[in-house]
Formats: sequence, structure tokens, C-alpha cells
Amino acid sequence: MMLARHPAGATDLRRRVTMAFAREMPPPPAGRACEMITAVSPALEDSVFLKACRRQAVPYTPVWFMRQAGRSLPEYRAAREGTAMVEACTKPDLITELTLQPLRRYPVDAAILFSDIVVPLRAAGVGIDIRAGVGPVVEEPIRSEADLQRLRALEPGDVNYVAEAVKALVAELDGTPLIGFAGGPFTLASYLVDGGPSKSFDKTKSLMFSDPPLWNALLRRLADITITFLQVQIGAGASAVQLFDSWAGAVSPQDYRQSVLPHSSRIFAALAGTGVPRLHFGVSTGELLGMMGEAGADVVGVDWRVPLDEAVRRVEPGKALQGNLDPAVLLAPWEVIEQRAIEVLDAGRTAEGHVFNLGHGVLPETDPGVLARLTDLVHTASARQPG
Ligand code: CP3
Repeated sequence: MMLARHPAGATDLRRRVTMAFAREMPPPPAGRACEMITAVSPALEDSVFLKACRRQAVPYTPVWFMRQAGRSLPEYRAAREGTAMVEACTKPDLITELTLQPLRRYPVDAAILFSDIVVPLRAAGVGIDIRAGVGPVVEEPIRSEADLQRLRALEPGDVNYVAEAVKALVAELDGTPLIGFAGGPFTLASYLVDGGPSKSFDKTKSLMFSDPPLWNALLRRLADITITFLQVQIGAGASAVQLFDSWAGAVSPQDYRQSVLPHSSRIFAALAGTGVPRLHFGVSTGELLGMMGEAGADVVGVDWRVPLDEAVRRVEPGKALQGNLDPAVLLAPWEVIEQRAIEVLDAGRTAEGHVFNLGHGVLPETDPGVLARLTDLVHTASARQPG
């Protein structure tokens, strides 16, 4: 099954834009080409997504959507029918199919691996399930030193099915980058300690404040699991990785610096030698954006609460930004969507590199036709006004 691009018109446009741009580009400086081809194939090096992550000139703004695979697509619901979420994440053929589904509809500039942040935890023996409409639920939460002993290290062989799916996907994707991902330390800890989804993360934050040695031991172990999980994905051919510390915005800047940042920094440092762009995203992290960059990310993801030109001021130089259209805007009439998307593109032009995305995942009730139209709009509107 090769990836059939759809709609064809949009892909043609992209090819034309890329070719026009290639004609205008000066040749790369001597020695540069070799230096750049460290982790990915030459075809991937031309990818607009990877170039934007690396803050290089691009012919148009690349776009992909968090949760582009999933419940907004009827073909996803059909393919998943009868298979539990956690089980689906262990079947290479299904992972491959679900990852490719959105790319058959939208000419997005990257695929994201179909998986979940709980996958490496389950693979390391944690009793954790994903309940439909609820989220991850843990059988026995981790709240003591004895509980922590149950959390063993992840061995690469524990997630062979992920490596297998990534390899199959890289072959199918034919030059479109595949983004691998993992959960960030605070977010993973929040499920393990609170035992499931939480609004205020009481038990998690209580552990963080009351027992720093246990907190740090837990986050060190989670960071090790995350490093192994991401190394497996990169080793199998993922050409970028995103660390989803979705709920890190629940802590103050001071607590983030003291209790979360050291662990995220260790994850990013462990991946530095791979040469793949590292993206870092969380919700309600406006006050943390600078530190999320400082942790070692190449690209800082921004939710819809902070305009991208303000995010530029909050993040140190040398970082690209990703974001940040409010996912709920996609439920409004097209004229509203168009205006808001153009505003995001305009603000994004102030960044050293910009990857268009939503400020969080696609809402299940989103019309896939709107995402297709938005993808084309991002490409054409950004190509008309090169930044
Ligand atoms: O973005 C993509 O297209 C890739 C797929 C992806 C999933 N989970 C699939 C999924 C990604 C990147 C994730 C990451 C993830 N999982 C995060 C971080 C991203 C974010 O949204 O902030 C978090 C916090 C989780 C934990 C989790 N898993 C939640 C909160 C839920 C939703 C529960 C629900 O039913 O509302 C899940 C389940 C899940 N993960 C689904 C999908 C497609 C829905 C499963 C279904 O079809 O029932």
C-alpha cells in the first residue's frame, strides 16, 4: 500500500512551490550538505517541516495537526472498531494504517506516529489502561518508595512493535517526515501518581512538594523510560520527536525549574547526538515557554493562549515555534477560521522558524473537510507572502 496523496491539487501546488523555491535558492555552502545529512535521508532533508524546525528558509509554512489521526476521522473509527486503544498501539499494521489515514486526506507536511504516551509505561509492566472518553487509568498508583520499585526500566525489545511500525511507515511515507513522540516527565507522573486524569493534580503536586527525593527518583525513572522509547523510534527512522508534557502548565515557573526542568533537560540532552529536531509542547505553559526551550528543545510548541509574536519574546533566540490556532476555532464558520489562521501565520513570521499547528489536539467533532481546507490555506497563504 503506497501512500495516495489527496487531494491531488494541493500536492501539485506544493511541488510547484517547492520547485520554484529551489530555483531561487543559492547552492549550499561547501561541506554543509554532508554535515546536514546526519540522521535522515537526502529526500527528508528537503522536507519543509524539518527545515522550519531547523530555522532554515522554507517556501511555505509547514503544517501538521496534533491528533490528526483519531476520532475526527470515520475511517479511524472503522479501523479501531473492536480493538481497545492500548491493544491498537501494539499492532504494527494497525499503527501504520492509522498513522497514514490523515495523510490520505490532508497534504500535511509530517505524519505523527499513532501511539500513546502510556505505551512505554505499559510495556514496562505498569497496569495502565486507556478508557474511552476518560483517558489513562492506573491500577495501582505510585505514591511511595515501595510503589516506585514496581516501575522497572524499559528495554528496547519491550516495544518491538513500535520499531516495526516506524520502519514500515518510513518506507511508505516516501520522504514525508514521521514525528515520534513520548510523554513528558510531569505528565507521565501525573497519571501514575493521581491514578488517572485530574483537573488539579492534587496527589501529584502533593508528592512533588512533600517528598522531593521520591519525586526526583520517579521522574528520573520516567525520563529513562522516555529516553529509551524515543531512541527506539529514532533508531527505526523517526525524523523528529515531540515531547508532550501536556499538563506541565499546572506548576508554577519556580516549581517547573526546580522539579521538572532537570528531568526534561536530561531527555533532550540524551537525544542531542541523534541530530533529529526535538519539539516540546504543553498546554497552558505560557509562563514556562522560556524554560521549555531552555530544556533543550529545538522547537517550542505554544497553545492558543499566547500569541506567537509574544512567545518569540518569551523564548531564547535559536528556537523555532509551533502552533497555535485554538482547536475550537475549527468549529466556527470558514471565514472565522481563515481570519484566525492568517493571524497565526502573521504572528509566526516573527519567529526564526514556524511550524503551523493547533494549540492542542484536533477535537473529535472537527469536520475533516475543514482540516483539508486549512492545510491548503496555510500552504498557499504563507507561500504568497514569503517571510
Ligand atoms: O496526534 C496524533 O495523531 C497521534 C496520536 C496520539 C494519541 N495520544 C492517540 C490517542 C498522541 C500524540 C497521543 C498523546 C497523548 N495521550 C497525550 C499528549 C497529547 C495531548 O493530547 O495533550 C496525552 C495526555 C495522552 C493520554 C490520553 N490518551 C488521553 C487524555 C486520551 C483521550 C481519552 C478520551 O477518550 O477522551 C487518550 C486516548 C487516545 N490517544 C485516543 C487517541 C486517538 C482516543 C482513543 C479512542 O479512539 O477512544
